Amino acid sequence: MSELNSIVLKIIKSGKGILAADESTGTMSKRLDEVNVTSTPENRLLFRETLFSSSCMTDCIGGVILYDETIKQISSKKNKITELISEMGSLPGIKVDTGAKVLAGSPDENVTEGLDGLRERLKEYYKLGAKFTKWRGVYAISKDYPSKLSISSNAHALARYSALVQECNMVPIVEPEVLMEGEHSAEDCLKKTSEVINKCFEELILHKVDLKGIILKPNMILAGNKSKNKISNDEIAKLTIKCLKNSVPSEVPGIAFLSGGQSEVEATQNLNLINKYNDTNFIMTYSYGRALQQSALKFWSKDLKNIEGTQKIFNHRSKMNTLAAQGKWSKDLEI
Ligand code: G3H
Repeated sequence: MSELNSIVLKIIKSGKGILAADESTGTMSKRLDEVNVTSTPENRLLFRETLFSSSCMTDCIGGVILYDETIKQISSKKNKITELISEMGSLPGIKVDTGAKVLAGSPDENVTEGLDGLRERLKEYYKLGAKFTKWRGVYAISKDYPSKLSISSNAHALARYSALVQECNMVPIVEPEVLMEGEHSAEDCLKKTSEVINKCFEELILHKVDLKGIILKPNMILAGNKSKNKISNDEIAKLTIKCLKNSVPSEVPGIAFLSGGQSEVEATQNLNLINKYNDTNFIMTYSYGRALQQSALKFWSKDLKNIEGTQKIFNHRSKMNTLAAQGKWSKDLEI
């Protein structure tokens, strides 16, 4: 087993999943504003440190994706955040893209930037203790979109990023996110997501990326949030598996879904059904941001000192998702 493959398995095996705590300062400030907490470096650290020192970090959370600010912060116990995460039994990772920018040639779409100087930044993150990284390409669905241009530019960037990350002995999370915003049907989502993922693998192979040493982070196949034709959770699970079976090479060890705006329980329920119907060799788990943190953040915002209460909520959500990653979750386990 290669070193990269063993890192992948440490993060996602046996029902473990990923906490995506890599919101940029802008996004985190928006989340904190929504619950009336002032967004200061101290408050951002306090909430995150509360999560990172929860007991579920040992049994459920195999990896945490950090943002540049957090990976350089020192915890209240005076150790590095990467050390805190490692001591809890999890692995620290880092988001390395610099965000989605308007795509020249198709100004209604975006391409993710961050390749310039990436090799040097990766070395710095590696020294800080990162074992894996994340880069997100983002695609909206409408009649003409995502365009071939956006699909191919984002796939190219994801592949160049992945090759650089593996060169630096870290595992790249490859995240092509087809957004759920819009009126499109689940069939449209299936068609577009398949096209996007197929192109990503074409480029990853061209760039000689070791597929056994990556984690794919895709969206589930859902009807758009404004679609009149919603589909059942069973159908979501079956279409998601169909998509991945047809577009992901069998060498890829694991797939960790993003939650993308689904509610906490919905994201858990869909992951559980995916695992019930999973007839592939892919490990299918979670890499959730909002669907792991929402309730904990809301609770914490009422009393920033209630660490124990906040951790109880985060532990519960993580446990539910870890059960779902093994197809063992049921609704009656929810509080
Ligand atoms: O890039 C997106 C995040 O890593 C996942 O966030 O689960 O809230 O969609 P989400």
